[in-house]
Amino acid sequence: MLNRRTFFQSLTAFSWLPFTNATEIRPDSSTWPKPSDPPYWRWIRQQFPIPADEAYFNTGTLGARPQQVIDAVIQHMRENERTIAHYDYRPEHVEYITGYRKYEDLRTKLGALLNAKGREIALVQNATVAISQIANGLDLQAGDEVLITDQEHSGAQGGWDLRAKRYGIVVKKIPIPIPANDPGVILQRFADAITPRTRVIAVPHITSKYGIVLPVRQLCALGQQHSLFTLVDGAQAVGQLPVDVQEIGCDAYASSPHKWLFAPPGNGLLYVREARMKDVWATIASGNWDNYKSEDGIFRLMQFGTGNLSNLIGLEAGLEFHQSIGSARCFQRIAELSQRLRAGLQQIKGVTIFSPVNSALACSIVNYGVDKVEGTRLMDELWRRKKIRVRAQGGMAVRQTSHIYNSPAEIDATLEIVAQLAKA
Ligand SMILES: Cc1ncc(COP(=O)(O)O)c(C=O)c1O
Repeated sequence: MLNRRTFFQSLTAFSWLPFTNATEIRPDSSTWPKPSDPPYWRWIRQQFPIPADEAYFNTGTLGARPQQVIDAVIQHMRENERTIAHYDYRPEHVEYITGYRKYEDLRTKLGALLNAKGREIALVQNATVAISQIANGLDLQAGDEVLITDQEHSGAQGGWDLRAKRYGIVVKKIPIPIPANDPGVILQRFADAITPRTRVIAVPHITSKYGIVLPVRQLCALGQQHSLFTLVDGAQAVGQLPVDVQEIGCDAYASSPHKWLFAPPGNGLLYVREARMKDVWATIASGNWDNYKSEDGIFRLMQFGTGNLSNLIGLEAGLEFHQSIGSARCFQRIAELSQRLRAGLQQIKGVTIFSPVNSALACSIVNYGVDKVEGTRLMDELWRRKKIRVRAQGGMAVRQTSHIYNSPAEIDATLEIVAQLAKA
């Protein structure tokens, strides 16, 4: 069995670290147990510093990070402090802060994950910042309409509401049925809401509260038919399921890799399709706010001044952790765990699942409740009895999101407690 020491012995350096003799921090997955080995997922779980007797099921709010990501960030910060006097800010020399350079290498790697070009990616702080940049950056007139859902996270809605209050655009909130089990109904509601004044469709790929996977490809195709700008909020999608922005056909896509991609909190990304880049003004402006050079892409949308480069080191380490396991293996594991939870809950009398059960709309975010049991009580009982952390969500429900650091045994323990509470 590999231990952390063996693991870290095999590491190699990031190409863009600001110092040359850094301890090595890149995982070499050839030293990992084989995925076919029964202990594989147990070993993966051991990479996370969450105590072994605690089960973390709130990735929907904030994902957990493996030790190697934490180490990469801390080590980078330490080295930055130790060597700061070497920092001369010459463009050809290493960088100690974000906010001023292009990070083409990392943008290219993230782009590859989404089937986009590096220049189509801006590194920002989170999905809220990414979405606000689109809501603020498009040329819209008073009376122009933006279609969103009635299931938006506040970070995806605020930018549009602000623009409505300040400049008079009209934000239409299309109701999504709960539970949602028919993509056709959702699509039809959007189609019916389009008028000659509609300019934008902005929808979540996966809704925050109920985990509804919206038919984003069809919604973007609908938007395209009407020459609308289409934005997809993928805060909950990147790292949870395959995301291919070409296939989705959106003009812009936002995400928060600190949820499903093991990145430290405060990492976000924005994709804008090359053909649409000219349509988005910068909101936060520094030296390159007006840089429309095609090779720089949307570098002008990452002009936020001094930021924390160690956080970006962590983002790259998180991406590499995901890739060392393999995207397909991660997605499959996540889907299997949540399906086990859904299937188990469906067997328990007195349990209602508010999330989709139709596989076309279902994902790893499962929102459910037990008759006559307050959501906060269900949350607290799961923690008190087996240290299972879910999130209470409104009156009578909790939200349980399974990631690769969860296990079938943790799901089964959840089901056992839920069954006891449903019987009581
Ligand atoms: C669907 C969705 N969009 C946007 C956000 C906002 O993410 P962040 O706080 O990382 O900007 C969240 C957060 O939970 C979310 O679930």
